Amino acid sequence: MPDLHTDVAIVGAGPAGLMLAHLLHVAGIDSVVVDNRSHDDIATTHRAGILEAASVRMLETPGIDSRVHTAGHRHDGIDIRVDGVSHPLDFPDLVGESVWLYPQNEIYVDLAAARARTGRPTFHAVTDTRLDAVESQSPQVRAVTDDGEPLTVTARYVVGADGSRGPSRASIPETTRKRFFHEYPFAWFGILCEAPPSHEVLIYSRSARGFALISQRSDTVQRMYFQAPPDTEVADWSDDRIWTELQARVEGPDGFALRTGPIIDKTVLPFRSAVTEPMQHGSLFLAGDSAHTVPPTGAKGLNLAFADVAVLAPALVRALQDSDAEALARYSATATKRVWKAQNFSYQMTRMLHTDPTADPFEARRSLGELDSILTSDHGRRYLAECYTGWPHTTTIP
Ligand code: PHB
Repeated sequence: MPDLHTDVAIVGAGPAGLMLAHLLHVAGIDSVVVDNRSHDDIATTHRAGILEAASVRMLETPGIDSRVHTAGHRHDGIDIRVDGVSHPLDFPDLVGESVWLYPQNEIYVDLAAARARTGRPTFHAVTDTRLDAVESQSPQVRAVTDDGEPLTVTARYVVGADGSRGPSRASIPETTRKRFFHEYPFAWFGILCEAPPSHEVLIYSRSARGFALISQRSDTVQRMYFQAPPDTEVADWSDDRIWTELQARVEGPDGFALRTGPIIDKTVLPFRSAVTEPMQHGSLFLAGDSAHTVPPTGAKGLNLAFADVAVLAPALVRALQDSDAEALARYSATATKRVWKAQNFSYQMTRMLHTDPTADPFEARRSLGELDSILTSDHGRRYLAECYTGWPHTTTIP
């Protein structure tokens, strides 16, 4: 494999890396993308499904041809159930916005196809990825390709969009890197099932037995989660036991009943908050989960990654085309502002909706008071709707 030279080397071919690659391509900027996973691995990983309107607009960028408007569904609200009592939130009414249900793996399929059409290179299933000389003006990404050939990509900038476990973050020296971390005393048990939707919109339910989320995938496949201890074993949960638990967490005086069906996937998902600052070191920029992880309760993970890219892409374009690196120098400060707002919202939703087995009785009652304050106030409901549907992007896409 010859050594490659490009403008931007992107580590990570997930939605953040490929969206960035596409926005750069549209502006006439070259990139090389590498990922240690295979195309099929990424395409079949089940992740979150809710898109803010600003994320949908990014998918409307010419050349992506996303199926978000044909295969995705607009959702005009969510339902928050508290001890079996439903509190519908109407987003257009409260804040004039909506969200879209369009799973992350479909986004990946759209973006991977768009990338392929540009003819610019993506290397999948690479091993031994290493970032070199990130403090210089010609940083390098080295890896071994899937057929065992050494690969060296020399670029003007490197972007680490390689998720929470990728190598990029560690290329920022520990002396400059700060990691903020919060652990929660629970995890989510996630299922995919073959059943019709149980409700028009997603249901976030707080109950004495713990939190449950009734989400969707399509007319025939649904996604649901329930709060469980972090050491929960999938093997201990039969389909019957799962349905009994989920139903117990949503039932109430209105007689609401879940539509059930065969469960086709069961996973226990980790649950934590983390932020790395700064999101830049020399010629290296972090985007998405490589810099921050949010608990899924606020549906912010992918949206936050896209928001990073919406700031980073035009800043890279200006630096490369106009030799004006000022916006790039402000990237970390600009992006982390939104990151902390999303961390706050995700933490707040989590704390208000879950039962904490380690909390004192005061905290349990207090969090119910917090939820009640929000749901019974027009201002509170508007606040929640604004956070959930997302704050405006700080920069326009190029
Ligand atoms: C999902 O559908 O996977 C999903 C939706 C909303 C969330 C988290 C996950 O808050």
